[in-house]
Amino acid sequence: MKVLIVGGGGREHALAWSLARSPLVETVYAAPGNAGISRIGRCVPLGTGDHAALLDLARREKIDLTVVGPEEPLVRGIVDLFRREKQRIFGFDSKGALLEGSKVWAKEFMSRYRIPTGRYSAFDDHCAAQSAVGAGTPPFVIKADGLAAGKGVVICRTAGEAREAIEAIMRERRFGVAGERVVVEEFLEGPELSMLVVFDGRDYRLFPPSQDHKRAHDGDTGPNTGGMGAYAPVEALDRRLEEKIRIEIIEPTLSGMQAEKIAGAGVIYFGLMLTPQGPKVLEYNCRFGDPETQAILPLLRTDLFEVLYEATNANLESVDFETSDESCACVVIASGGYPGEYVKGREIAGIEEAERAGCLVFHAGTALRDGRTVTAGGRVLGVTAVAPTLREAVEAAYGGVDRISFDGCFARRDIGWRALEPGRAAQREG
Ligand code: AMP
Ligand code: GLY
Repeated sequence: MKVLIVGGGGREHALAWSLARSPLVETVYAAPGNAGISRIGRCVPLGTGDHAALLDLARREKIDLTVVGPEEPLVRGIVDLFRREKQRIFGFDSKGALLEGSKVWAKEFMSRYRIPTGRYSAFDDHCAAQSAVGAGTPPFVIKADGLAAGKGVVICRTAGEAREAIEAIMRERRFGVAGERVVVEEFLEGPELSMLVVFDGRDYRLFPPSQDHKRAHDGDTGPNTGGMGAYAPVEALDRRLEEKIRIEIIEPTLSGMQAEKIAGAGVIYFGLMLTPQGPKVLEYNCRFGDPETQAILPLLRTDLFEVLYEATNANLESVDFETSDESCACVVIASGGYPGEYVKGREIAGIEEAERAGCLVFHAGTALRDGRTVTAGGRVLGVTAVAPTLREAVEAAYGGVDRISFDGCFARRDIGWRALEPGRAAQREG
């Protein structure tokens, strides 16, 4: 079988790595891919937004399954196009992608299906949004409605900050049309958790729960990033809490998707907060998380190709979905300055040494220049290790991180701290 992966980050490298291990998969293609993916598959220089060219590629190369990594092509209807043209694809249609593509739509969906989430109001008029802030009590969470590359959520400690955020989003249009509407949401507190669920339209399977680290620096300080590391499973999630999340959140969401006649098979990513009042949804994503995917796929015992292919046949029921009971940690190495300005094109040393030490090194922002691997993004590599316990997995991943270097590189040194230092975490939440 031939598989095409749409995207070129760490998540897509992890997908390519996992799919290439399947005895059923003969070739993995990626568009555009990256330097790491090019070692295991064929990278084709096409943008993720060029749906017509991607469809042509899939037809020309007789691709059996296309897997979409990022949200943007889903929101823009790549699945609608491939389905219309009878080309098999893993992902939801553009209506399903609204769960991520419109915060207002997602909030209304949650109200319709009584899914626990923070209280909110939605506005398409900035004066009305400003008045709501004036009448409320801080902190406020202000969210641009549309896609904003993970930057559209602003946590505001004061009404002044909230007014500035509304001004920037709705009047200055910092995120373009994504800021035509805003959601003003109740501020929630507690540990965060990502639950990734494969849904085939009827049945579903849960990946091990994972936790991302969104802030740039240790102790969850510094600016928000795309994610500086992840680990799985999150042991704080015991059976009882998992059952509660299934019954109160996952199953109502999936039946809501059926009721809304959302087409396709894909991953729904539940961004949850475990509040003192119970688990609540912070956000939905309509795709695999990044870097959560790097931390959960190494724990999957079942052939990923079989899972994704059978999901597109609405036949997950036939798949024996098995995950390892070990732990996995992924530490992101980033370019100095990220998430702000950074320099590209730095030569990277030590990747093979880290691999020889037992790590999986997933490339996020890399390119090949004269046969050498150089940096090509803010998040550059995801150094990943699996071990019987989280502590050992984290140690092994840092063993790999310490073997890799390039000018200006940095990584957080505390991936997994909430699980490894529960006392400190409890103090923070308290
Ligand atoms: P999102 O882009 O919706 O994932 O939000 C990004 C991050 O903002 C989340 O991972 C949370 O850390 C934070 N966040 C979102 N909504 C809320 C909320 N209602 N209360 C507190 N933090 C939130
Ligand atoms: N790790 C957060 C995301 O994938 O959106």
